[in-house]
Amino acid sequence: MRVIDTTTAYATVSAGSAQELTLAELADFINQLHRLPTVEQITAQFASLLPRQRDYEAYRLFSAKKYARNLIARSDYAELLMLCWHSGQRTPIHDHGGSVGVVMVIEGSMTETMYEVAPEGHVRPYNTFRWCPGGITGAAVPDIHQLLNLQPPGRDLVTLHCYAPPLTVLNTFSPSSSRRRKWREGSFTGGAGI
Ligand SMILES: [Fe+2]
Repeated sequence: MRVIDTTTAYATVSAGSAQELTLAELADFINQLHRLPTVEQITAQFASLLPRQRDYEAYRLFSAKKYARNLIARSDYAELLMLCWHSGQRTPIHDHGGSVGVVMVIEGSMTETMYEVAPEGHVRPYNTFRWCPGGITGAAVPDIHQLLNLQPPGRDLVTLHCYAPPLTVLNTFSPSSSRRRKWREGSFTGGAGI
């Protein structure tokens, strides 16, 4: 399995981005959608965002129990969330139930491990990325991954997420069995879940 540091790759992707979109304008983009956005359209919006802490402070909320999901905007076609992670907090291994997803790192370093289903039914990792602030990772369907804050104790992670359509049902996977669990909206909203 490869471990890929994305610092250099992101410098290429972000070159030339105006980075002048405010978080409120990004929320307007979500609220005013009339159709499902593509991964490329969401990524372009994220790449244009200028993250200022005074703009996102209201959503920069952590939980001691597990990573916190803080809703910024939601429409029929997409949702925008800020996720806040203390060191050691992580998602289960999961897919997105048919939604596309784009994640941007705002503060700290995020680890992302990609999985695939092996012929005998278990999931196996095939890539691990380390994303630094400004790094954007997006995935079309299908995708199975895990997001983690593996920084030393005391180092927090803040990330911005867009899912289209909003997550309502998805699957979680175990590295030690072929069993899948189905998660539904309500079990992973309000600061808990994926
Ligand atoms: Fe995910």
